[in-house]
Amino acid sequence: MQPTHSPLTLRVNGSSHTLTVDNRATLLDVLREHLGLTGAKKGCDHGQCGACTVLVDGRRANSCLLLAVAQDGSAVTTVEGLADGDALHPLQRAFIERDAFQCGYCTPGQLCSAVGVIAEAADGHPSHVTDPAALPRTGPAELTAPEIRERLSGNICRCGAYPHIVEAVEDVIR
Ligand code: FES
Ligand code: FES
Repeated sequence: MQPTHSPLTLRVNGSSHTLTVDNRATLLDVLREHLGLTGAKKGCDHGQCGACTVLVDGRRANSCLLLAVAQDGSAVTTVEGLADGDALHPLQRAFIERDAFQCGYCTPGQLCSAVGVIAEAADGHPSHVTDPAALPRTGPAELTAPEIRERLSGNICRCGAYPHIVEAVEDVIR
């Protein structure tokens, strides 16, 4: 009979965890149900809303789409890991200052995604709205408002806080 559970080691927000998890468990469920990190939210569980966004080895990912056992050995950052002790991450401060949320359900995913967006742009990754005439680029991609909107388009906000989310990201990168 095939084993139904497997050992898994994850480094989450700087701490190492060794667990035994159901082979079918998603990273989102392991974070929330095994490690008690409920910041990443389950909105759709189908990769459509972005509420579950975390950073895996520095790249943003929908944790509801990742099998946890496939992430063995990875470093994961959730919204709980963005602050430095009592000091909020600059994006967290900007979201508060810009009133970039209402219910807050999408906010952990928006924040992790925005961290990923800033890193991807710094690495020169183009988006769907990046001018092809400007490619191939060798330096950082400029995060204009259309670029921010496009790059965060996988993170749905049913409260419609989008304008303030864009302003918050602009505050951090300017
Ligand atoms: Fe993962 Fe919606 S819960 S994308
Ligand atoms: Fe409510 Fe975005 S603040 S879904």
